[in-house]
Amino acid sequence: MSHSYQRFDPFLQPREAEHMFRVAESFGSFGTYADEGTSEGLGEDLPQRFDVGQHYVARGLDGTGNTDTPARSASRTNYFRETYAYGTDMRVPEIKPFMDNEPLLNWAREMGGSDYVVPAIVYANLLIPGQELAIHTDVPEFRGLNRLNAPQWLLVCMHHSGLFEDWRVPILTCVSWFGAARGGAFTFYPDGPESPRESVAADHNTAILLDTDSAFHGVERVSTASQALPPITRETRLEFRSGEHWLLRQADDVLAEYTWEDLRYSISWKGYCFADATQHELWRSGEDRLDIPTVLARFADHLKAEDAGELTGKTPDERAMTLVNHYIRFPAVADVG
Ligand SMILES: [Fe+2]
Repeated sequence: MSHSYQRFDPFLQPREAEHMFRVAESFGSFGTYADEGTSEGLGEDLPQRFDVGQHYVARGLDGTGNTDTPARSASRTNYFRETYAYGTDMRVPEIKPFMDNEPLLNWAREMGGSDYVVPAIVYANLLIPGQELAIHTDVPEFRGLNRLNAPQWLLVCMHHSGLFEDWRVPILTCVSWFGAARGGAFTFYPDGPESPRESVAADHNTAILLDTDSAFHGVERVSTASQALPPITRETRLEFRSGEHWLLRQADDVLAEYTWEDLRYSISWKGYCFADATQHELWRSGEDRLDIPTVLARFADHLKAEDAGELTGKTPDERAMTLVNHYIRFPAVADVG
């Protein structure tokens, strides 16, 4: 299955692009991509994206293998993320013009075949030298279930299974890059997981628009020419100091210092792309919503029909493993095309 995409070069006006650095600096302190939502009673001991982690620890970024220890793998992929805007919650008020960027809305309307595009979220990712982002698909949303009330791996299974498409809210993502970090190319499978992986350089003020809930993608390693990768835990923070300087901190300890030239800075914009007015209104009104018991019952029936195991008589973690291993098919090993 092919995924359409569009690239933008340049993306913003030069002054707007430059301003994105000031936005990150004013935010000041970036934490690692922490777990969100709930897994109570459902794979509660597993990380929210254990589907991605278990594949990456075993197979690495390109699927050929991973010589890092699990702890080192965690440091490589514990990148830094903060949300600039979520729905109407403008955590960084000056991001509003970007969130409502009319050309971006028009590109999403065109690609999504939708007159009903609603900006959903804007967030920033910072990767330090030596980090990369494991191959994954993003966390989708369904009427009634999203990352705030359902485990992220469950939502991903729901989309990959194709069983809940009537409730899915289609999302397009625009990933844009700012700065001069070396390496860190955006890598993805535009023609599906069985086809070659392709890479797009993360050049300053360029962007790509695509359905990252459906297309597998990741980030190649950011150049380590300047310094080695320190151990990164969930508590590590990346803090803006002044001028060009950022500090990597673990409580009171400074683990490393970076300048903007070292950091891979991306901003992701996501928009809901409703097929028509009816779908938009269903979402807006909160009608016809899924819940977790309904989803698990549907999965149990489907597993049974496919003679692929069952969910009863298993621990929550075992049930989660069963679903992830059955429904999420990572890309086959392939060279960069
Ligand atoms: Fe992603």
